[in-house]
Amino acid sequence: MKKEEKEYKRILVTSALPYANGPIHLGHLAGAYLLADIYVRYQRMKKRDVLYICGSDEHGVPITIAAGKKGVTPQEIVNEFHFRNKVAFEKFGISFDYYGRTSSKVHHQTSQEIFLNLHAKGIFSKRVEKQLYDEKIDMFLPDRYVKGTCPVCGYAEAYGDQCEKCGSSLSPAELIEPKSVLTGDVPVYKETMHWFLPLGRFQQRIEKWIESKPHWKTNVLGQVRSWLKEGLSDRAVTRDLSWGVAVPLEEAKGKVLYVWFDAPIGYISATKEWAQEKNDPDLWKTYWQRQDTRLVHFIGKDNIVFHCIMFPAMLMAHGDYVLPDNVPANEFLNLEGNKLSTSKNYAVWLEDYLERFPPDPLRYYLANNAPETKDADFTWQEFQQRNNSELADIIGNFINRTLTFVDKRYHGLVPEYGEYDDLDKTMLDVLKKAPKKIGLYFEQFEFRKGINAFMDVGRMSNKYFNDQEPWTTVTKQPGKCATTLNICLQACRSLAILMGPILPFSAEKVWRMLGLDGVVARQLWDDAGSPALKPGHKLGQADILFKKIEDSDIEPEIERLKKIAAEMMERKNSEKPVVQTKPKISFDDFGKIELRVATVLEAGRVEKTDKLLQLRIRIGDETRQIVAGIAAWYSPENLVGKKITVIANLEPATIRGIESNGMLLAAEDESGQLSLIVPDRDVASGAKIR
Ligand code: MF3
Ligand code: ZN
Repeated sequence: MKKEEKEYKRILVTSALPYANGPIHLGHLAGAYLLADIYVRYQRMKKRDVLYICGSDEHGVPITIAAGKKGVTPQEIVNEFHFRNKVAFEKFGISFDYYGRTSSKVHHQTSQEIFLNLHAKGIFSKRVEKQLYDEKIDMFLPDRYVKGTCPVCGYAEAYGDQCEKCGSSLSPAELIEPKSVLTGDVPVYKETMHWFLPLGRFQQRIEKWIESKPHWKTNVLGQVRSWLKEGLSDRAVTRDLSWGVAVPLEEAKGKVLYVWFDAPIGYISATKEWAQEKNDPDLWKTYWQRQDTRLVHFIGKDNIVFHCIMFPAMLMAHGDYVLPDNVPANEFLNLEGNKLSTSKNYAVWLEDYLERFPPDPLRYYLANNAPETKDADFTWQEFQQRNNSELADIIGNFINRTLTFVDKRYHGLVPEYGEYDDLDKTMLDVLKKAPKKIGLYFEQFEFRKGINAFMDVGRMSNKYFNDQEPWTTVTKQPGKCATTLNICLQACRSLAILMGPILPFSAEKVWRMLGLDGVVARQLWDDAGSPALKPGHKLGQADILFKKIEDSDIEPEIERLKKIAAEMMERKNSEKPVVQTKPKISFDDFGKIELRVATVLEAGRVEKTDKLLQLRIRIGDETRQIVAGIAAWYSPENLVGKKITVIANLEPATIRGIESNGMLLAAEDESGQLSLIVPDRDVASGAKIR
């Protein structure tokens, strides 16, 4: 850690650009924004050169779909949500230095420049592909615009990219009886040219680079390594759509860049716009193109592959840019024990929250309960409890009792201190060590620990007040009482600084209550450690810092979510009564199925699919070939030598031109993940299963 700090001269922090097709909810905040903001506010108070960039991601198919549903243009949709989200973030205290948007001119130009730069370097490969096409409206159909019957579960309304019933991820080609969502017509296949980023060619460089990042969070490294292990394949970076950044090539007329190609470039273009606003148009280069910049991307876990593989590969290919020093991705936030669902309105929207409550209690609870290493759960009751028993009862109470005591007994002036006793010394020492201790946690992206360490300072301050009993000493030992209150006031000031990154609104309030000049956000973090309040200093007006949250404040919220959860549950149950089975079969029917144990001899991927593996297996003395849709969960090398179970007398089928002679058995969970059924003990290949 120490060593790196010397190497880096400035910090560039980004939060994932949220799609501008809907409002911000708590899941967003807990994933990519709140902890980033705490980090940035802390770094600013450390007086480091730090720049915090974000903006709206305004392209992509879901935005076009949202526009279509509302009967407006995509531009109208993004205009609405860009501004709404920007305002909501501001009110919540997320302190971006610049909030850009990917429909801006600078962004379009920047994305095209980067595309052309890679193009000129010969990075892209170009291929003709067959894609579904709606002839009625002369349009290629994105996967989401094709519906049909799911080949896995038979659901009739599956999308071209996913079946929402069984969760299987699909490609439009796999749908049975595909239909265009736009016209209902049967789409035809038509050839179209696309440009691909050959990630495989970057595999080694990315591997090497990732291995130089042992300090990354384990959840992030785990995901990246497993992608690398699977082997990186080409990614199409162009699309046949009308909404997006136009591909700047004559031969690519009518095509746009893939949204995940242009969106991360949004970080760069937003930095350019920020520099232009500062009248220093080249300043963005200092942040993006000097190797002594520490680039940090805050994201949710669903964005890992783009920020740790695809975007870095683009930047490597370009050559002029820094790569991220860290990508502290968070896991997901659940809500009252269930997954968030924006379409079912099972979410807490930031705008709604802010109409009812102040920002800081949510900042505190969310950050303290952030899904840093595993999924976390938000409950209103815990929110209430954290506010009432920690913010109000510890921090608020301590500051309040100190200020009212000083107001009453010392006319609101900071009292003189005398000789320190052991408790005094211990308390002053706690304050002295706090900034470094908390700061180190923040620097290591261990926010929960940092916030707990902050709360500990509050706890110890409160305890110190109790132990010194100033209400007794005030008459019997006035000198001691004055010293106690002097130290308590120093603690209030320290707490105000230390809460700056976490509770920015409350921090400023305390600062005013202490009658101090300036703002907390401009203080020096390390100053929280020294008792800087001068005796005789006139304090400001005491005020309630954290209002208690009553049951009646949160009950309607809990009820609303319960109702939706119950509806979601009901819908699920009505679809699948108990265990849904096919019609009963006779024992004889069962006897017709020949189930056997088989050994995998060879395994390989089937070209041009992400799903299929081609296996050579041995059943007893016979070897044969089967095709299985397990590539997403099993890599070929790990299968060789494995004993699996198969239906040995299934009619042969031809899948993607490959003959399959049998079918392996696998269990499928709700998410669609497959798990091979394997014998529990070592048995001979060919053994019968009964
Ligand atoms: N809009 C994407 C999402 O919400 C995130 C884009 S991050 C960027 O998942 F890097 F591409 F900008
Ligand atoms: Zn399905």
